[in-house]
Amino acid sequence: MAFVLAKLAENMYIRSTRSCDVLIIGGGSSGLRAAIEAHDAGADVLIISKNKKGDPHTVLARGGINAALGTMDPEDNWMIHAADTLREGELLADYEKVEVLCKNAPDAVNELVNWGARFHREKDGRLTQRFFGAHTYRRTVFYEDWTGDEIIRVLLDQVSQRNIEIVDDVYITRLLKSGDVRGKKGAPDEIKGAFGIDLKKKEIVRFECKSLILGAGGYTRVYAVSSSRIFENHGEGVALAYEAGADLVDREMVQFHPTGMVWPEKAEGVLATEAIRGEGGILLNSNGERFMKNYYPERMELGPRDIVARAAYNEILAGRGTEHGGVWLDVTHLSKEKILDRLPTMYEQFKSIDGIDISKEKMEVGPTAHYSMGGVVVDIKCRTKIKGLFAVGEVMSQIHGANRLGGNSLLDTIVFGKIAGDHAARLAKEVGERQNTEPSLLEQNVNNNNNNNQKEFGDDGIFIVKEPIKFRNQIQQLMKLNAGIIREETRLQNGLKGILELKKEFYSKDNIIKEFKIDDENVVLTWEVKSSLIACEAIIRSALMRQESRGAHYRSDFPNLDDEEWNVNIYCRKEGREMVLFKDSVKEIEGPLADLLKIHVKAEHRREFE
Ligand code: FUM
Repeated sequence: MAFVLAKLAENMYIRSTRSCDVLIIGGGSSGLRAAIEAHDAGADVLIISKNKKGDPHTVLARGGINAALGTMDPEDNWMIHAADTLREGELLADYEKVEVLCKNAPDAVNELVNWGARFHREKDGRLTQRFFGAHTYRRTVFYEDWTGDEIIRVLLDQVSQRNIEIVDDVYITRLLKSGDVRGKKGAPDEIKGAFGIDLKKKEIVRFECKSLILGAGGYTRVYAVSSSRIFENHGEGVALAYEAGADLVDREMVQFHPTGMVWPEKAEGVLATEAIRGEGGILLNSNGERFMKNYYPERMELGPRDIVARAAYNEILAGRGTEHGGVWLDVTHLSKEKILDRLPTMYEQFKSIDGIDISKEKMEVGPTAHYSMGGVVVDIKCRTKIKGLFAVGEVMSQIHGANRLGGNSLLDTIVFGKIAGDHAARLAKEVGERQNTEPSLLEQNVNNNNNNNQKEFGDDGIFIVKEPIKFRNQIQQLMKLNAGIIREETRLQNGLKGILELKKEFYSKDNIIKEFKIDDENVVLTWEVKSSLIACEAIIRSALMRQESRGAHYRSDFPNLDDEEWNVNIYCRKEGREMVLFKDSVKEIEGPLADLLKIHVKAEHRREFE
């Protein structure tokens, strides 16, 4: 495959280098929580973010954050929460990470409360907890129906009290390792910083650090219908880690949320929170039938997300969908007072976008790509196999297995953000002591390049392609058609062929533009496509390999769960220019959780779809 390095227009070789102990890529809840912990452990921390400060993807996390606080259902405890989490993920998650998640959940939520989070309370002062799908008890704590936004507000306040700097509008294109820098001695697999573009200052920027935390989100925007905004979740976090040599895992596990908006077209995919069903909303097909009784009668609309999403999809395929290709979500039986108290954003969203009053009319909804369970392989301390590189939030993996419980994602960002921040700060301290005798990257480059900026940035690898939007649209349609909610061999093969052809075209000599300005909007779009291509190849190759159905991964040609053959995680690794896959057994559950998990409750609810 031809690969041509492009040169930026001469006047664009502007250098800016920043140094810190712990560099955090991502200004969402995982990044902010990590920053607070790393700072409190004594590190000099810098957060860089592609999105504007205060507007990360987390603000779209609506329904709540889970913890077995037992305020509503005193029988709840962390073990039941952990068992629900593992069951929902059809036992593909790393049970030790799940234990850490659920044991630490009450402290994580209480900490947010102590920092000023205005979570909903009962009249007697107890925190209100509501039902979310597939939870045994009510354990989702919330602020109206925009909990993510509230958590970001609180975390930003803590970040600002500590004077931790956030540089927004920065797009990172590459991680720097010691081996990347001429004249640098030491292990090539050690992370030393990151390289990218400051979109505000229109500068190429480089960051030096002693440890780096990737909290740059997931990859569900590779689908045409997604609950992510168009400028986020193209898979940049995992692509950066993969290119740097880290392993990926469980990439076939993409969660489709059952209720995204389907109309008007411009709002397709926008989330209608699970809290709507948690507060009593019901799903109906075009015959007015409450169809979940045919798929999961015990829990109906509050069944596992994968089952509810496939049920809605099946109703639509079977011709029982709405005019715009959805199903109905109905809260007209709830009082307007309750809707405005618990679901004010949803009330406003449907009113302003679709012109409907949800207290009087039904909402039209359908499945939307929502969450990436797969990601970068990390250990219990959020460390990848590359020294100095940590991953958190939707970039990390093996917490949710094959399917995620609603409300566990905000939780994992807080629990593992804290862990990552702590360990990244400790590592930075060790590296700092070792590095006192070594020249910094900046000094080395100045020496090596004789302060010749053009030379220094001439091999930065940044390029743009013609019409990246055309690539983006084609990728999104390919993924929707061939690697969506229901999969099978022929379609997946078609999808892979399509992605590999696009990749060839993307990197072809004719497609790459050699001279461009750094503020060309195609720079970011190009890099988003570059990341998407990696994400999609990994999704499809892993989905082809897994010849069974488990959680969010449903193969109509292999509709059953097959523990004999497929109780494994599928890994992807970069070798040369190729993506190679391998599998390894899932860690066997030991200790008290093992007994709780003897029965596969979801297996009885499996059914065949076309
Ligand atoms: O529907 C929702 O509010 C989504 C929550 C989640 O994915 O955790």
